[in-house]
Amino acid sequence: MALEGRVALVTGAGRGIGKAIAMTFAGEKAHVVVNDVCSRNELERVAKEVSAFNVESMAIQADVSQYDQVKEMISQIEKTFQRLDILVNNAGIIRRGNIETVTEEDWDQVIRVNLKGTFNCCKAVVDIMKRQRRGKIINVSSVAGKMGDITSAPGYGPSKAAIDGLTKTLARQLAQHGINVNGVAPHAIETEMSAEWSEEKRRSIIEAIPLKRLGKPEDVAEAVIFLSSDKADFITGEILDVNGGFFMD
Ligand SMILES: NC(=O)c1ccc[n+]([C@@H]2O[C@H](COP(=O)([O-])OP(=O)(O)OC[C@H]3O[C@@H](n4cnc5c(N)ncnc54)[C@H](O)[C@@H]3O)[C@@H](O)[C@H]2O)c1
Repeated sequence: MALEGRVALVTGAGRGIGKAIAMTFAGEKAHVVVNDVCSRNELERVAKEVSAFNVESMAIQADVSQYDQVKEMISQIEKTFQRLDILVNNAGIIRRGNIETVTEEDWDQVIRVNLKGTFNCCKAVVDIMKRQRRGKIINVSSVAGKMGDITSAPGYGPSKAAIDGLTKTLARQLAQHGINVNGVAPHAIETEMSAEWSEEKRRSIIEAIPLKRLGKPEDVAEAVIFLSSDKADFITGEILDVNGGFFMD
């Protein structure tokens, strides 16, 4: 098992891609802390599914956009496990619309959760990872950060582009401490975030993907597992596309 005994924190793990990442870590025998703002019951259910893999699990409700809550979450993890090997910044929100319809509140909220949430978690774990002299941080970005997006309100693509910039900046700053910082940039993954698409829209999205299917949360999870493993020790500052060939750079 590539990650046996490692401790991983996955934000936004109550459902969708985050949940798939948490389950895939558990399958690799990593201990997993699942975080979300969803109900305690939902989050406990995910933690229970994780522990069915005979690994330790912990559920922590916290809003990643609030630094005090993130700090508290990381100290709970430190108290319980005395370490944290992997941080996956997956929590994210999207707002639909365009520049005419987007409200200032929507803009602020998307930037606060997606970008500041990622910054908050990175900042809160860095001391632990520096002390360990190793750590892996993986930020879940989006193809929208690389090429823009016509369906999401203007905050989403910029929040993800800024996450890519943060990923590269921290990759440079933290390399000397043995900490790798990478990202994944998914496109068209079947989750509740994409459930609102009409049948016609789904068809046109699939048509534009060379591999001719939508992605599965597990497709993203496997890329995250690779970047979390020792096999990716010489990779940092990379934003790995998980998009069926839709966008190539
Ligand atoms: N689904 C896609 O096609 C797709 C494509 C590109 C990128 N992404 C990115 O992947 C990530 C996961 O997306 P998903 O499709 O699973 O979305 P989702 O909406 O199904 O899940 C996101 C989870 O994050 C949680 N969350 C929201 N705000 C939070 C906060 N402040 N603190 C903690 N948790 C919070 C939600 O409660 C939810 O459980 C997001 O960052 C998203 O931008 C998704």
